[in-house]
Amino acid sequence: MNILVTGGFGFIGTNFILKFINNKNINILNYDSLTYAGNKNNLTSIDHYSNYNYIIADVCDRKLVNRTIVKFKPDIIVHFAAESHVDRSIEDPFQFINTNIMGTSVLLNESLAYYNTLNDEAKKRFKFIHISTDEVYGSTRGESFTEDSNFSPNSPYSASKASAEHLVNAWNRTFKLPVNIVNCTNNYGPFQYPEKLIPLTIINCMLNKPIPIYGKGDNIRDWIHVEDHCDAIYNIIINSIIGEKYNVGGESEFKNIDIVTTICSLVDKYHPSDSAQTYSKLITFVDDRPGHDFRYSLNIEKIKNTLNWLPKKNIHDGLDSTVKWYVDNKKWWMNLIKSKESVL
Ligand SMILES: NC(=O)c1ccc[n+]([C@@H]2O[C@H](COP(=O)([O-])OP(=O)(O)OC[C@H]3O[C@@H](n4cnc5c(N)ncnc54)[C@H](O)[C@@H]3O)[C@@H](O)[C@H]2O)c1
Repeated sequence: MNILVTGGFGFIGTNFILKFINNKNINILNYDSLTYAGNKNNLTSIDHYSNYNYIIADVCDRKLVNRTIVKFKPDIIVHFAAESHVDRSIEDPFQFINTNIMGTSVLLNESLAYYNTLNDEAKKRFKFIHISTDEVYGSTRGESFTEDSNFSPNSPYSASKASAEHLVNAWNRTFKLPVNIVNCTNNYGPFQYPEKLIPLTIINCMLNKPIPIYGKGDNIRDWIHVEDHCDAIYNIIINSIIGEKYNVGGESEFKNIDIVTTICSLVDKYHPSDSAQTYSKLITFVDDRPGHDFRYSLNIEKIKNTLNWLPKKNIHDGLDSTVKWYVDNKKWWMNLIKSKESVL
């Protein structure tokens, strides 16, 4: 099975590749332009694998996308590449529109051109799997969102991801490109760029810096360990029904303040402060983000019932191992926060 992974040097892409590259029936080509969020060092341990290769290129580059697809002949395309940080989308929306909307349209178009050249057997194997987010549904104070819920994105990031989903659906309905969409909640785990809440909290504890929390920290997010998300994507690759979208979540909803205080106590355990004080003293409430969604919540019954997938990692074990990973891999994140693109 040839899998073209876009954005494989990012957080989820890296975890996906490392998880499945040991299966020698799988060849992976990683297509990534190495923005600030991409890190080549994540995958140097598999550089010598004969079933892994990468190309540094932009998903908006039509010619390169075309050449790559024609040469690699993917059975599966897993499209992770995106601008992914909401705060950055408020400061500079246009890069989000470019990569997340234009880039997705280029990939869809070149995938379709390639798909139309395949014989019937290869056509049956082909799937374009688009990785999207729970944020496209907007915020809820009531019921969890199902796959049939309407879109109501509030940030430039979620609006760009919602737009990309419309395009993916259009390429399926109009041109019959075989697609699936995965809407996932907040991922956590190793290799996440340190601007996101969980790694930022761990790192600020270790550097003894204030831990900023928007508003009063009451906003609610569902958290899923990245390995569970990667397993769900693999299950979708193997078992999905073409044209369907699947909500994926950890069924672990917490207020931001509760996640942050839990992390502080885990850093207390693995990297105690010299002053013997708890790191939760570093928590600093800051002005709320404009358009900050109160609660994201997904109903994941469809993937549970139709594909027999369940999140396996308990949040407490998952956070414990994640904190330990960042404590043990200080060099990894120090290199990132020293880089000139870092805003940390
Ligand atoms: N992290 C989460 O909690 C989460 C939750 C739900 C959905 N998602 C979605 O999953 C996907 C991956 O998220 P992530 O957290 O790994 O993101 P990330 O920001 O860590 O990584 C993005 C990767 O895409 C690459 N990239 C960016 N622009 C590119 C371009 N124009 N051409 C080629 N490569 C480009 C970057 O270099 C980087 O390696 C995204 O589509 C995101 O919207 C993420």
